[in-house]
Amino acid sequence: MTSDTAATPAASPSPIVATQGLTLRFGDGDAAVEVLRGIDLAIRPGESVALLGPSGSGKSSLMAVLAGLERASGGSVSVAGEDFAALDEDKLALARRGRIGIVLQAFHLLPTMTALENVAVPLELSGDAADATARARAELEAVGLGHRLDHYPAQLSGGEQQRVAIARATVARPALLFADEPTGNLDTATGAGVMDLLFARAAERGATLLVITHDPALATRCGRIVTLADGRIASDTGG
Ligand SMILES: Nc1ncnc2c1ncn2[C@@H]1O[C@H](COP(=O)(O)OP(=O)(O)OP(=O)(O)O)[C@@H](O)[C@H]1O
Ligand SMILES: [Mg+2]
Repeated sequence: MTSDTAATPAASPSPIVATQGLTLRFGDGDAAVEVLRGIDLAIRPGESVALLGPSGSGKSSLMAVLAGLERASGGSVSVAGEDFAALDEDKLALARRGRIGIVLQAFHLLPTMTALENVAVPLELSGDAADATARARAELEAVGLGHRLDHYPAQLSGGEQQRVAIARATVARPALLFADEPTGNLDTATGAGVMDLLFARAAERGATLLVITHDPALATRCGRIVTLADGRIASDTGG
C-alpha cells in the first residue's frame, strides 16, 4: 500500500452514461411541454456528479430518462453500453435490473414489510432469490442498521428509512446509483449523514453516482457539477 490514494484513472474510459441531443417532450401540439431541449452529457465510470438547477429545469426528468423510467423523445441515450432507444420494454427492464439503483426524496419503502424484506424483495423479484435474505442483511449492516432488520418503516426514523432505501438501491451492486434530492426530507445533520453513507457506498462499490440536489454545499462534495436551466445544460464543471 502506498499513501497515494488518488489513483490516476485509466485514459478516457468509455462513458457509462452518454447522451446526445437528448430531448423530452410531454404532450402534443399546443399542449406540448419541452422539458429537455438537447442534452449532451457523458459521465465516466466512477464519477460522482451533482445535478443542480432551478425547480422545473428538468433534473428529475433527465434522471428518469437515464434510469430508463422515461423514454426520450429524441436524441440518443446510452447507459452501461445499452442504447435505451433500441430496447423494447422487456429488454429495457432487463437492462436496468441490477445495473441501476435509485434513491428518492420520499423513501418509498413498503410499509407492510420489514427493513430486511424491503431490501431482499427486489433481489428476489429479479430472480436472485437464493441468498437474498443473507445479502439484504449484510447490506443493512453496512448502512449501520443491523439492529433494525425486523423493524417496519413506521418504526424507523426518517434517516433510518433513507438508509434502508440506500441499502435497497445498492444491494444488487449496481454500476449506477441515482439519487433525487435524497436529503430533501431530512434535517441538515441527518441529511449529511445520509450523504456520507451514499458517497461511501458508491465509492466502496466503484459505482457511478448522480445526485440531484438544491444544496450547493452538498454539490461541491461531488467531483463534478452539472447545472440545468430550462431543459438545457447551463454549466458543467467536468464537461
Ligand atoms: N408527466 C409530465 N407531463 C407534463 N409535464 C411534466 C411531466 N413531468 C414533468 N413535467 C414538467 O417538466 C418540467 C421539469 O420537471 P422536473 O420534475 O424534471 O423538474 P426538476 O428540475 O426536477 O424540478 P424540482 O427541483 O422542482 O424537482 C416541469 O415544468 C414539469 O412541470
Ligand atoms: Mg425534481
